[in-house]
Amino acid sequence: MRINLVGFGVIGKGFAKTLIMKQDWLKSRYGFEPRVVSISDLSGTLVNPGGIDLSATLETVNRTGRIIDCSGASGMQSLDAIRGVEADLMVEVTPTNVVTGEPGLSHMLTAMDAGKHVVTSNKGPLALAYKKLKAASEKKGVQFKFESSAGGAMPLINLANEVLSGDEIISIKGILNGTTNFILTKMTKEGTDFETTLKEAQELGIAETDPSYDISGSDTASKLVILTNAILGREATYSDVSVQGITKITPEAIALAKEEGFVIKLIGEVEDGRLSVAPQLVPENHPLNVDGTLNVASFTTDLAGDVTIVGRGAGAIETNSAILSDILSIYRGVAGR
Ligand code: HSE
Repeated sequence: MRINLVGFGVIGKGFAKTLIMKQDWLKSRYGFEPRVVSISDLSGTLVNPGGIDLSATLETVNRTGRIIDCSGASGMQSLDAIRGVEADLMVEVTPTNVVTGEPGLSHMLTAMDAGKHVVTSNKGPLALAYKKLKAASEKKGVQFKFESSAGGAMPLINLANEVLSGDEIISIKGILNGTTNFILTKMTKEGTDFETTLKEAQELGIAETDPSYDISGSDTASKLVILTNAILGREATYSDVSVQGITKITPEAIALAKEEGFVIKLIGEVEDGRLSVAPQLVPENHPLNVDGTLNVASFTTDLAGDVTIVGRGAGAIETNSAILSDILSIYRGVAGR
């Protein structure tokens, strides 16, 4: 399977590392031999129809910061690479933008138009234009998969749509942002202040490039829209969510909640068709009370009751667990395995 990789930041480099790490296993387990035939970043595009040397590329980009410095790179822009470099599938992992969805939205529409399957972790285009993207993929008969975009490594969409496919999912509720969970956990357990703890979260590398996306609740809202559409079959967009972040949570409010046996968590919830993100009081012994950077989501279903899953919602390698699972699902479908 030939892959156009678009975006070579934390997740894109993590994708390259994951393929290097899993190369032999993927071949022996599934007969799967992915070939990355182009890598684009803002500086240009590296092309090799025979398969790019991922280790050499990582080495060069880690040293210089840019694809254009790799031997064989050209100034070809991402859209030209998506149109012009032959491949079966595009992995789109450029930084998210919840205002315009760009450049990810154009990358995805262009790839679909060129008859390529799309796998992405990019939340912005999905939260803004899911209906348009879904329609474009259906029109062209290509697969469109985005498990990694909401909940990182947690297999939420597959769990709901495949494993629980006989159940009606009635509501979804959870912690979908690791940065805010880390901040609230530290403020609760160590009594640290908001600003200091936010700096620590940024140092961990899980906060968005602009951390206001995290603390304002906007990142959680994007993920909630994605889950609502993919699992509940809705066509919601970001503007349908009532959003409140964690900036107004004081150490005093946290201490008061603790005295009563509660913790404060930033919860995303869709229930009775209403989408909301807001700090909520969660009983200390409740399944949604998970610590640190962990994410958690509970589905309320008609047959199975409540099903809760906990896992890592961010991280270069963890996110690529879900990206790889989407790619394998497409490969196994195409190859009839
Ligand atoms: N900033 C996000 C988080 C990264 O903290 O969960 C994963 O989407």
